[in-house]
Amino acid sequence: MKKTLLRVRESRQFGDYGLFRLEGEFEPSMPGQFYMLKGDWGYTPLLARPISIMTEDRHTVSFLVKIVGEGSRKLTEVNAGDSMTAVGPLGNHFPFEEVKKGDNVLMIGGGVGVPPLYYLSEKLVEREILPVFCQGARSRNDILLLEELRALSVEPLISTEDGSSGTKGLITDIAKERIGKADFVFACGPKGMLVAVSKLVDGKTRAYFSLEERMACGFGICLGCACGIKHDDGETRYDRVCVEGPIFEAGKIVWD
Ligand SMILES: Cc1cc2nc3c(=O)[nH]c(=O)nc-3n(C[C@H](O)[C@H](O)[C@H](O)COP(=O)(O)OP(=O)(O)OC[C@H]3O[C@@H](n4cnc5c(N)ncnc54)[C@H](O)[C@@H]3O)c2cc1C
Ligand code: FES
Repeated sequence: MKKTLLRVRESRQFGDYGLFRLEGEFEPSMPGQFYMLKGDWGYTPLLARPISIMTEDRHTVSFLVKIVGEGSRKLTEVNAGDSMTAVGPLGNHFPFEEVKKGDNVLMIGGGVGVPPLYYLSEKLVEREILPVFCQGARSRNDILLLEELRALSVEPLISTEDGSSGTKGLITDIAKERIGKADFVFACGPKGMLVAVSKLVDGKTRAYFSLEERMACGFGICLGCACGIKHDDGETRYDRVCVEGPIFEAGKIVWD
């Protein structure tokens, strides 16, 4: 983990979202990791915001942010040349190294859970592993990174609650038959979606979920992101999503 000052190379807004690319000196990351990001905006909001890495190359690291409040709005309003304080890469990563060629891999993503799964897809495709990617949203305006996924030859299966794109309904409707056949399930999205998916996963499938708890520090000090996790000794303990997570085995997460 490193605190660094990065410069906005490019930034664009669409609908409720902003996509920006930062350049500067940063440590290489793994898919599922995140940064605590704060622009050059002074005290409001005071705290940096956790944002997953969408992709990176040797020189730039990219993020996709949905506006839900003041911090995310300010992140989407950055312009080329602005500077941003970035602490990271933070957290653990999806264990993609364990996936073998020929394994059946299912991604299940909703909302801002899609960017880290896109990064994971890139890493798998590099190893000639083509995942099945289910993406659910309220409406077509919240379907993310479609062109980017297609450029990887990953054709997402879409569901929208209002039927404006793909199958009308919930993501579990399109994922449920595929979950039983998957060797690996990687999921990231709103808690309600993860709880619903967890009920469909049996013990044979290796399933890893990325949790998006609210975070204050992002590196293990405040304990604000603690979440109940069942450990191998049978005890449930509170793990920090920002340090021991954000990725946990699905069957070990205690949903409250
Ligand atoms: C590991 C991790 C990775 C993330 N990756 C991304 C990403 O790639 N892109 C992205 O847009 N967002 C991502 N988020 C969520 C993002 O951090 C929050 O949306 C952001 O911090 C909200 O800040 P704000 O000031 O805009 O909103 P606030 O004013 O703090 O909150 C506005 C509303 O959003 C709700 N909210 C805030 N944070 C969260 C959260 N973590 N989960 C659910 N509801 C929340 C609040 O309860 C409130 O109702 C991630 C979160 C985590 C923990
Ligand atoms: S956000 Fe402070 S301990 Fe995780």
